[in-house]
Formats: sequence, C-alpha cells, structure tokens
Amino acid sequence: MNAPPSGPTTGPAGPLAGRHIVLGVTGSIAAYKAVEVASRLVQGGAIVDVAMTRAATEFIAPLSFRSLTAREPYTDMFRPNGEFGEAHVELARRADLMLIAPASASMLARLAHGLADDFVSLTALATVAPVLVAPAMDAQMWEHAATQANRAMLEQRGVEFAGPASGRLASGRMGAGRLVEPTAIVDHVKARLGRERGDLAGRTVVVTAGGNREAIDPVRFIGNHSSGKQGYAVAEAARDRGAKVILISTAPLPAPVGVRVIPVSSHRELFAAVRETVLDADVLIMAAAVADYRPAQPFERKIKRGEAGDLTIELHQNEDIIASVSSPRLIKVAFAAETDDLLDNAARKLKAKGAQLMVANDVTAPDAGFAVDTNRVTILDDRGGADELPLLSKYDVGVRVLDRVAELLREAR
Ligand code: PMT
Repeated sequence: MNAPPSGPTTGPAGPLAGRHIVLGVTGSIAAYKAVEVASRLVQGGAIVDVAMTRAATEFIAPLSFRSLTAREPYTDMFRPNGEFGEAHVELARRADLMLIAPASASMLARLAHGLADDFVSLTALATVAPVLVAPAMDAQMWEHAATQANRAMLEQRGVEFAGPASGRLASGRMGAGRLVEPTAIVDHVKARLGRERGDLAGRTVVVTAGGNREAIDPVRFIGNHSSGKQGYAVAEAARDRGAKVILISTAPLPAPVGVRVIPVSSHRELFAAVRETVLDADVLIMAAAVADYRPAQPFERKIKRGEAGDLTIELHQNEDIIASVSSPRLIKVAFAAETDDLLDNAARKLKAKGAQLMVANDVTAPDAGFAVDTNRVTILDDRGGADELPLLSKYDVGVRVLDRVAELLREAR
C-alpha cells in the first residue's frame, strides 16, 4: 500500500520538489517513454504515483514504474494495490497535477465524455488538480474529426496539451502524433505547476539572451562569445515560478517550453523588441551581451580581399538599452561580464544603468561566464548590498536572481 506523501526529506529543491504527480499511462507504443518521464520527475524531487490502463500494461510492465518511483502502480480498479476505500478518490485528492503520457485517442475520448472505466480516466474524473495530457497516436487518428472535437472540448475545460509532435510515427508514416520528448513533458509539468502556485504567477518577465551580430558586410559581422545559455536558464527559472516569460534572443537554441521567444540579431532589433515588450512587463533581466558598437556604414556587397588593402572600419556607439527603458513599476536587472575589477566595475554600471540589481560575473574563470553550463556571480543591489554566490548551474543562478526579484516585487506592493 502506498503511504500518503510526506515530501522528500532530502533531494533537490526545485519546482518539482515535494509535488505530488499522478502519472497516467495508456496503451501506446510510446508507453516506454513514460518510464523516462517518471524517472525525471522523481529525480526532480516529485512524489510520483503511476496509474495504468490495462492496455498500457501490455506495452510496459508496472514493475518498471515501481522500481523508479518506489511506489506500487495502480492498474486494477477493483483491486487498487490492496488499499481499502476509494483509492482513486484519495489519489485524485493528493495530486498537485495529473499528467497523462502517453494519452491514446481512446483516452482523450474517455476524458472528453467523462467516462471512468479504467484507473486513469477514473482518477482524472475525480481530481480537481490541473490535468496535462501528452497525446501519442497515428497522424490519421490525431487528425480525425472525433479526436479533434475531443481535444477542443478538453482544452475548453482547461485541460492542457503537450504536443503531439510531428515526425516519424510507429506506422512508418510522417505526421503529427508523436509523443513529445520526456524532457519537454517534464518542462510542461514545471510550467503548469508554476502557474498554479509560483511566486511570480501573474507577473511578466522579459529576459534577453545571447550576443548581437553587427553587420560589417552581407557575410561578416562583429559579435561576441555569448551562447545565450545564461539568459535561457533565467527564462526557464522564471517560467517555473509561474511568470509569463518573453525571451528576446539572438541565440539559435531551442525555444524553452512555455516561453515566448522573439528572435533578434542586431542591437537595433534587440532594442526595438525590449522597448515594445517592457511596456507591459514587471521585470526586465538583461543577460544578453549587447553590442556597444556597430559599423557606422555596413558595406552593401561582400568586401573582397585586396580590394580595400588594410581596412579601417568606423564604429558608432550603440545606445544603452537597459539605461534607456523605464516605467514606474519595472524592476531592472543587469548582468556585467567583466575581465578585471569585477565588483568596482559592476557597481559603477549598476548606478549608470539605473538597475535595481546587477549580476557581476568574472568571465575569465573557465567554469563561469560565456558558453559553459555553470556560472559564479555576485549579486549587487542598489542599496549597496553584495551577495557572493558559489559556483552554480546557470539555472540556479537564475533561481537566486529571481529570489531577489520576488523580494523586490513583494516590497513594491
Ligand atoms: O550567454 P552565455 O554564454 O551563457 O554567457 C553569459 C554572459 C556572460 C553573457 C552573461 O552572464 C552576462 O554577463 N551578460 C552581460 C554581458 C554584458 O554585456 O555585460 P556589459 O557589462 O557589457 O553590459 C552590462 C549590462 O548592460 C548588461 O545587462 C547588458 O545587457 C546591458 N547593455 C549593455 C550594452 C548596451 N548597449 N545596452 C545594454 O542594455
């Protein structure tokens, strides 16, 4: 019998920590991917109860889930793990979120019509927790009018869909119907949980990421080493706390789940996007390595070697984006990439840019700054405070910056 959840006593603190997820698994060849979903949820600190339809048990053994979750999966409506009473009602009540992955066409039909003839649909009907479904089926089944009507009905009722993705299907055909990847499913879970209870729910956060490209001619540009990783990590951390996130990016990284990405390249494009989006924003976090200079007059045609001999390119200074946008309620967070006099330079920039927080990072350290997955920063504030953080993942740097942002938002109320 499964004990009521008490939350992990150890384990990672993060958006999934201590959250109770009911994972419904239905009959689909993609059911094996639900094992990885369960594993990732557990690794994130969630308490995962698995409910399976009989068809799901034809594709994957309950034992796989029991081993990963350390909890007995629910497979039989009439013999629910030896529990007495209304096991599905108890399971439904405990859930912070119900995820059904993969969700077959037949499961979508049962959910849409309120049928409750297996443990998954039974629990879904009994829960008031948010329900997230990740469909998996052949393209013809997904596109069928019946499935689309069921999808529309479920969406109207607040059920959220993760996918399906398009690509090669089990039938060998191409089309929409693939289960989205387990990492993306887990990101959907985090985003949904964040919107329910996150401390940034209802807030709009604009984040910039990557380095600008300033054209010299149609094939060459002036750029820098920013990969965009720090900005993307901040955006994901803000999404996981419930914020509506707009990510203005120069980086060719995949769009994070649940985040609106505005792709830009030059300083001019970045500036225009920031100016427009901050009008309705609560927070601006400038992690982008913004170009301070641009060629005064980019060449219209490719410069040919020898044509110009030695070349001198005149550069014009770009406007300071973060310094020139403001609104009474906008909290501004800047980053400072420094190679020397880290704290002095960062403190000077904090003032000059009119920001509330400045995240100073020494980009000469091999495990911090450009392109790596970790960062080592000191957060300076406009009251003279300095919080030196240890080496952290870029996501955790985002978390710590957002802790300070959340404090400022609370104070401003
Ligand atoms: O992208 P990664 O590879 O993950 O690397 C992360 C990072 C090192 C780029 C990031 O952590 C970082 O430090 N970003 C800021 C880099 C930078 O441009 O620093 P700066 O000192 O030149 O600018 C200070 C602040 O003013 C920044 O917030 C910058 O976005 C902003 N700025 C700068 C120039 C300008 N014209 N307008 C601006 O708004």
